[in-house]
Amino acid sequence: MEATNELLRVENLGVVFTHGSMEAHALRGIDLSFSRKEIHGLVGESGSGKTVTSTCIIGLLPSPPGKIVSGRILFGTQDLLKLPEGEMRKVRGRKIAMVFHEPAKYLNPAFKIGEQITEMLILHLGMNKAQAREKALELLGLVGLGKDGRILDSYPHELSGGMKQRAMIAIAISCDPVFLIADEPTTALDVTLQLQILRLIRKLKDMLGMGVLFISHDLGVVKEVADRVSVIYAGRIVESSSKGKLFEKPLHPYTRLLILSIPDARKRGSRLATIPGRVPDADKTPTGCAFHPRCPLADARCASDNPELVEYEPGHVAACHHAGEPWNI
Ligand SMILES: Nc1ncnc2c1ncn2[C@@H]1O[C@H](COP(=O)(O)OP(=O)(O)OP(=O)(O)O)[C@@H](O)[C@H]1O
Ligand SMILES: [Mg+2]
Repeated sequence: MEATNELLRVENLGVVFTHGSMEAHALRGIDLSFSRKEIHGLVGESGSGKTVTSTCIIGLLPSPPGKIVSGRILFGTQDLLKLPEGEMRKVRGRKIAMVFHEPAKYLNPAFKIGEQITEMLILHLGMNKAQAREKALELLGLVGLGKDGRILDSYPHELSGGMKQRAMIAIAISCDPVFLIADEPTTALDVTLQLQILRLIRKLKDMLGMGVLFISHDLGVVKEVADRVSVIYAGRIVESSSKGKLFEKPLHPYTRLLILSIPDARKRGSRLATIPGRVPDADKTPTGCAFHPRCPLADARCASDNPELVEYEPGHVAACHHAGEPWNI
């Protein structure tokens, strides 16, 4: 990856949640790099730290109980973690936008879709009402909701799930963000709608030149949409590479098991691999490699020494004492 193309970089991000005497180390030194016009998929099972990572980037970590204990988030020359809230408010929604998996929660039921889009344009871009309405129509056309104004004058409850998701994407891209965070944006949709939304995100990424952080627990979905993939486990990145290399030559046993658990039409009838056990709670992270209790390759060293991320080929890193070793499962 060319350094000049880098848009945003997360370095050594650490987050702890404190509840009374309980300390949960939700992120334990996350490193991620995002480029323009690139969809970077972040994948891992439930509880691995995907949403906590995205809330830190957008400056919305609930604090307390959450606290950022280490790291930087470099956006150009600025460290977002050092920005006062007033400055961060100018970045959030304007330069860095976000879409979530539950548009119903995000869209305000009391306001028409058009009002919710034009509000952003008036607030952030200083447009007048007529300019904002025209731009809102253009945005709805862009996300496939028609240019005739019908959706503009609809309330959220009048739209189907897929349409709501498109409307939320229109709001997110309204101020031409350079970076878009999509946290499980298709999880609530059926497969056909899911594919349509994934295609839409790819189209918008190309048209607007945005960098995208695409979060999913489903590596099959990430495979459809991402250019680059990072795998997160128990608050650490365990593997990261271009999508092609990750699927061709996965190095970490966790990545390999995630790949084997993707439902695949060609494998129909064959047994789908499942990964035994589950992600540990963030206050009970095992010693050594956090994945070792579930790993088919684990030995005594894995239980005591936490493996560092090592670059095995340019742009392909993994944190595993047995990276790429053969196995039979
Ligand atoms: N407010 C909180 N208080 C305590 N722990 C929290 C809090 N929010 C998140 N955590 C913990 O941080 C860890 C990461 O949570 P996160 O929500 O980032 O997971 P995720 O990867 O987004 O999972 P999912 O796929 O279910 O959305 C989990 O162990 C979770 O229990
Ligand atoms: Mg989440």
